[in-house]
Amino acid sequence: MKFDKQFTFGTATSSYQIEGAAAEGGRTPSIWDMFCDIPGRVHKQHNGDVACDHYHRFEEDIQHIKRLGVDTYRFSIAWPRIFPEKGKYNQEGMDFYKKLATRLTEEGIKPAVTLYHWDLPMWAHEEGGWVNRESVGWFLEYARACFTELDGVVDSWITHNEPWCAGFLGYHQGVHAPGHTNMDEAVKAVHHMLVSHGKAVEMLKKEFASDTEIGITLNLSPVYPKSDSVNDALAANNADGYSNRWFLDPVFKGEYPKDMMNLFSKYVHSYDFIKEGDMEAISIECDFFGINYYSRGIVEFSAATDFLHRGAYSDYEKTGMGWDIAPNEFKDLIRRLRAEYTQLPIIITENGAAYDDVVENGRVHDKERTDYVEKHLQAVSDLNGEGMNISGYYLWSLMDNFEWSFGYDKRFGILYVDFDTQERIWKDSAYRYAEIIRDHKKSH
Ligand code: NOJ
Repeated sequence: MKFDKQFTFGTATSSYQIEGAAAEGGRTPSIWDMFCDIPGRVHKQHNGDVACDHYHRFEEDIQHIKRLGVDTYRFSIAWPRIFPEKGKYNQEGMDFYKKLATRLTEEGIKPAVTLYHWDLPMWAHEEGGWVNRESVGWFLEYARACFTELDGVVDSWITHNEPWCAGFLGYHQGVHAPGHTNMDEAVKAVHHMLVSHGKAVEMLKKEFASDTEIGITLNLSPVYPKSDSVNDALAANNADGYSNRWFLDPVFKGEYPKDMMNLFSKYVHSYDFIKEGDMEAISIECDFFGINYYSRGIVEFSAATDFLHRGAYSDYEKTGMGWDIAPNEFKDLIRRLRAEYTQLPIIITENGAAYDDVVENGRVHDKERTDYVEKHLQAVSDLNGEGMNISGYYLWSLMDNFEWSFGYDKRFGILYVDFDTQERIWKDSAYRYAEIIRDHKKSH
């Protein structure tokens, strides 16, 4: 593995997944608090009330981050801490992030901050959430407060994390908050998220005359047909449209893919929620492009499904999530992005794996996770050797945390969290990651 001197290593988390302190510091509930309360939605009805108690233990967590030797730490801001009620700003909420970002900077760690990592305030949801176009204005008010208070101390901004999950898992498949199953709503919600992304970028650049880098993070998964039949090729095209192109095309080409607009029109009766200027706003030039990469998809034709595809059997080795381990397909994905979409610097804003870890005599021998990380870092190194310009890598996640509908059952951390005592235990993957970073620094 070889990386340029400027290449940045990081690790990532998000607010609802780690903070806890759900009712402290003036925070009000988000859609995830509500979703967790509904029986049957989240594994064992777990919730983020306490999570990793990071809100109270951030100083300790910063010391772990420092010990890892990473250059940067990616976290998100909880919108309901900043605006607990509509139009009501909460300085106490902001002060937590100011302190966190300042302390990181003092320790030589660059804060990379995500504005929206899925914890929409309930007050916004009660007014229609992302389906309501007014959400764009609410988000901009929130973004403005964050830029005003934190732009000086933040190293880079990410407007939205994985709008595919927030939009399609939340409003179409119903497995994420708010748990709706309505494609018409989902497409509108995604559109408003994307417009709010573009307008926030414009705001930072124009109104703040800021040179802090800003971008969006998409989760992308290259999709392959199960066979070389014409039908499976169609299935793969549709799956790629649903998961990848529906986001890539507006962000980089300023248009939604026509074939998918047609396919979705089974449920989306009109596209007149797309207003004049929206597509220009969405496709505004950013400073970098964030990608969360975990796995590939393999699909086959299915006439019985909404969009004519379904997941197919794959004989690849899998992580604890049942996701294919696919570093070569990661390479395909990046090459395709370079050929078809963008020359912006790419940052891998998330990559990692869940496994069923066990603590043995105070150690966690997570060889599989260590292998997973090494394989993907090797792929990044190879891709950069081809001139693909990936400028940084964030390992998901710093520590085990609330894995959404899987609750605390799935562990993605390189630090093991004992949720009874809140003890953090370094897994072997953490030691190895620290070593990779040390070796990299020594080589320059
Ligand atoms: C992507 C999401 O951004 C993060 O919140 C989640 O925990 C990881 N993937 C793992 O599923």
